[in-house]
Amino acid sequence: MILFLDLKKVNSIYETAFQEKLNAFLGKGYYILGDEVKLFEENFAAYCDSKNCIGVGNGYDALTLIFKGYIQLGKMQKGDEVIVPANTYIASILSIIQADLVPVLVEPKLETYTINPDLIQDKITSKTKAILAVHLYGQLAELDKINAIALQNNLIVVEDAAQSHGAFLGKNRKSTNTQAFSFYPGKNLGALGDGGAIITNDEELAKVLFSLRNYGSEVKYLNNYIGINSRLDELQAAFLNVKLPNLDVDNEHRRTIAKRYLSGIKNDKITLPFWDFSDNHVFHLFVIRTENRKELQDYLKENGIETMIHYPVPPHKQKAFSPETSGWNDLSFPITEKIHNEVLSLPISPIMTVDEVDFVVEILNTY
Ligand SMILES: Cc1ncc(COP(=O)(O)O)c(C=O)c1O
Repeated sequence: MILFLDLKKVNSIYETAFQEKLNAFLGKGYYILGDEVKLFEENFAAYCDSKNCIGVGNGYDALTLIFKGYIQLGKMQKGDEVIVPANTYIASILSIIQADLVPVLVEPKLETYTINPDLIQDKITSKTKAILAVHLYGQLAELDKINAIALQNNLIVVEDAAQSHGAFLGKNRKSTNTQAFSFYPGKNLGALGDGGAIITNDEELAKVLFSLRNYGSEVKYLNNYIGINSRLDELQAAFLNVKLPNLDVDNEHRRTIAKRYLSGIKNDKITLPFWDFSDNHVFHLFVIRTENRKELQDYLKENGIETMIHYPVPPHKQKAFSPETSGWNDLSFPITEKIHNEVLSLPISPIMTVDEVDFVVEILNTY
């Protein structure tokens, strides 16, 4: 059986190093915001070529805290609108709501699955304050165009980089925007539990965020802001310090698999993902489309290949957004709905072998 993602195997090469970290952790007896969190914040900021990394509890909190931080600085206010792709994972949208802001959904491009920049301008109102660019499946959204629209309209761009650790534009990893990362175990850089981080070059925002994640406090028992408790766990930070040096190699392996899928799969019933072969894609997921998804998924399963669907129901069709809440269920986003009806994620991971990839290709080509 080719598993969709064999996390036990992904992490097994790090076991000795994890044990050493655990032993050191037990020896220290210091459990919250210790040396490992500090070290990871330094390491990940350096990796992202950024001045600040704020370690937090998970990717959702990273996003929520960024919005709360901007509100604290007076750059956004309760009720302001944030533009977000309609086909994103629901966490992006929920984070906006959690910060008392209003999500405004925009269709993605069918080819790239990222927000269609040409549709943003029409959705901008006097209440719009930000665009949340989501780098879905590991591919960067069209940041050049999005940043230009933001500049013209005096908007803030926030990047949801939960699925895109290590993806970058041109030669430069540095982003002018604040970015949110998730270290959920299945992510390209995954912890052994929940974890997240914010990357920012905005010193003023960073200062507020370091407090906001810790009850709004910089000095123990003195609270400057109404913060929350969302600190990156010390042990998860230790594990992430072990794994971070391998991230680029892992991403390169993912790209190698993607190239093999892209050149090998030849079947009219399958639409392959678009990629311009630059480093703007780290293939967190390799997502194909097909009209008879259930049939294809069953066929692959019969042949020992596990697949997943990211995601079966679009956010606006979720029960959570029923008439009693937002009333989004009646909205129509045809591209988003088509994507959610047709997408299927093939196995891809840092430990997948070339033979396994070739087997998946062979089975797909005989479908
Ligand atoms: C695009 C996107 N944004 C945000 C999140 C939230 O991250 P977490 O699960 O760490 O809260 C995820 C997690 O799956 C995600 O895929």
